Amino acid sequence: MRLIINTGKGGVGKTSVSVATARRCADMGYRTIVMSTDSAHSLADSMDIELPSTITNICPNLDALEIDIITEMKTRWDDIQDYIIDFMSSQGVQGLSAEEMAILPGMEMIAALMYILDFKKNDRYDVVVMDTAPTAETLRLMSFPDVSQWYADRLFGIVKRLMSLARMTVGKLIDFPLPSKDVLGSIQRIKDQMSEAKDILEDSEHTTVRLVVNPERMVISETKRAYAYLCLYNKNVECLIVNRVMPKDAGEYFGDKLLEQEKHLEYIHHAFDPMKMLYSEQMPTELVGWDALNRLADNLYGDGDPSEVYSSRSPMRFESDESTYRIVLDIPFAEKSQVELYRTKDDSVIVQVGGQKRNIGLPAVLSHTRMAGAELKNHELVITFRREEDGSDQR
Ligand SMILES: Nc1ncnc2c1ncn2[C@@H]1O[C@H](COP(=O)(O)OP(=O)(O)OP(=O)(O)O)[C@@H](O)[C@H]1O
Ligand SMILES: [Mg+2]
Repeated sequence: MRLIINTGKGGVGKTSVSVATARRCADMGYRTIVMSTDSAHSLADSMDIELPSTITNICPNLDALEIDIITEMKTRWDDIQDYIIDFMSSQGVQGLSAEEMAILPGMEMIAALMYILDFKKNDRYDVVVMDTAPTAETLRLMSFPDVSQWYADRLFGIVKRLMSLARMTVGKLIDFPLPSKDVLGSIQRIKDQMSEAKDILEDSEHTTVRLVVNPERMVISETKRAYAYLCLYNKNVECLIVNRVMPKDAGEYFGDKLLEQEKHLEYIHHAFDPMKMLYSEQMPTELVGWDALNRLADNLYGDGDPSEVYSSRSPMRFESDESTYRIVLDIPFAEKSQVELYRTKDDSVIVQVGGQKRNIGLPAVLSHTRMAGAELKNHELVITFRREEDGSDQR
């Protein structure tokens, strides 16, 4: 199953590109679904149709799904939701606000990942195209060192916070329900499923991220940051989709703008080389409906296959020779001063780039080694480990 995740700054064209890509895949005969994790859904608007919050067939080979987290909570996680609602009501919060408070951040993504697991297990689709919320949201999911761990910690953390809040409330010392075995079991199940989902997300042969960008300064800056962070989290960013490129014959009125655009395009080329780039023009009309979306797909893919994996290189690699092991991690655009590194007692290495941190669990083979050095060169961070000499070296 091919999974294409389109992300990028707000308004750059993620939804339009996702729908156009999915439709082209479907027309080529692939069983395809386009799904959106953005709570401000616009798949339906883009296709100019109505969409319920369940998987809906759009045309031959093409399904669509806008994940509605309220529906998902009610069907998928009803026991957890009931517990949180019970808890809230024991604290005097009732009705709709309790229901809303039961929705935790990032849940759309978790629900999306569960669908993806299900699609893969049942071989339901050849291609899944995921339209996401603007970068920050998506990075939040990608950045969890271990999604499942994050999820469980977060949920348990919230429950604990609520518990201590309850303790502080005079007269309500033990006046709240404790999570039942079933609820805790459900949380554990989510944890297990998330760890399977992590494997799918990091499978660089089948799962790739495409960064949608416009030739504008601020968009480019955010895209560079996103690229670096996605590499840090071991996601295969295989392609840059440069959308809304003004055609060269846009007219005299756009003269200065065209010159500016030329500079930005050159910069993008230089900065992201050798990444695969696909271009689409600024269309004269709004991109709504199949005619316009087909034009976008023609622009991007011509006669090509949109599901092609342009590069299956994983940003993180393990290498070894007789006495040393190396973790090689692509970190594009990062300066030495932005990268920090330390080894923890529980055999993982924490790499911090700017504001983002990744905890890399070390394979068992590295457990009797010491970190012998690290070097950032040509956008690659190489961390070297040496085997402990008997009794002589200390970590
Ligand atoms: N190549 C293009 N030519 C003309 N209009 C475009 C092009 N690409 C996108 N648009 C228009 O720009 C607007 C934003 O596009 P779209 O909704 O696809 O972006 P998005 O990245 O999904 O936005 P959001 O971050 O809000 O989800 C839409 O009105 C769309 O029709
Ligand atoms: Mg969108």
